[in-house]
Amino acid sequence: MNTVRGLFLTLEGVDGAGKSTHIDWLVQELRSRGIDVLSTREPGGTPVGEKLRELLLHEPMHLECETLLMFAARAEHLRTVIEPALAKGSWVLCDRFTDATFAYQGGGRALGTARVAALEAWLHPDLQPDRTWLFDVPLAVARERLNRTREQDRFEREADAFFERTRAVYLERATHEPVRFAIVDSTRSIEAIRHDLEIDLDILVKLWAGGI
Ligand code: TMP
Repeated sequence: MNTVRGLFLTLEGVDGAGKSTHIDWLVQELRSRGIDVLSTREPGGTPVGEKLRELLLHEPMHLECETLLMFAARAEHLRTVIEPALAKGSWVLCDRFTDATFAYQGGGRALGTARVAALEAWLHPDLQPDRTWLFDVPLAVARERLNRTREQDRFEREADAFFERTRAVYLERATHEPVRFAIVDSTRSIEAIRHDLEIDLDILVKLWAGGI
């Protein structure tokens, strides 16, 4: 019997949007529904990817280098972790994926869409997340949350206009792919957000069990 491929779920949003608050909870919710789930992140998720993450978050570099390193980390992650897990029927919950490159490098840093799309077409022409939760907050809320956290990295220290461009690309992508994306109004309480996520999880588990 063929194993049914697992579902690929991603979380996105600008820094300070609050997605991290829900990751461990989502993993628990999935496990309580009998789903085998792997939780991972980008950039990172592999020994090489975590080393690249350190560079990416803290070392100044040219935009092209930054974009290619994001995809280098992603190549290792996809081939050695994500694809094997999905193939054996596990679900993968990934904190950021290629939408982040479109939003941050393409939008925030104004590289544009074409080059990111070319790298995506090379690395994963046939794989898209089955569900992407886009945690969305206005700039002021993101800033307020970020100021409460530890020392900020290269992206978190960016100017307001960078955040606005990044957020705009995320929202544009969500509008163009309304089936894959769910926009989460992350200004709401944790309970209200989790209520919506639970409903979504129930639907995904039901569809998957029914062999979508
Ligand atoms: P995190 O703080 O959500 O773990 O993400 C690390 C930072 O990396 C975050 O500021 C967004 C940034 N990033 C990009 O700029 N492009 C990408 O493709 C990815 C995956 C992350």
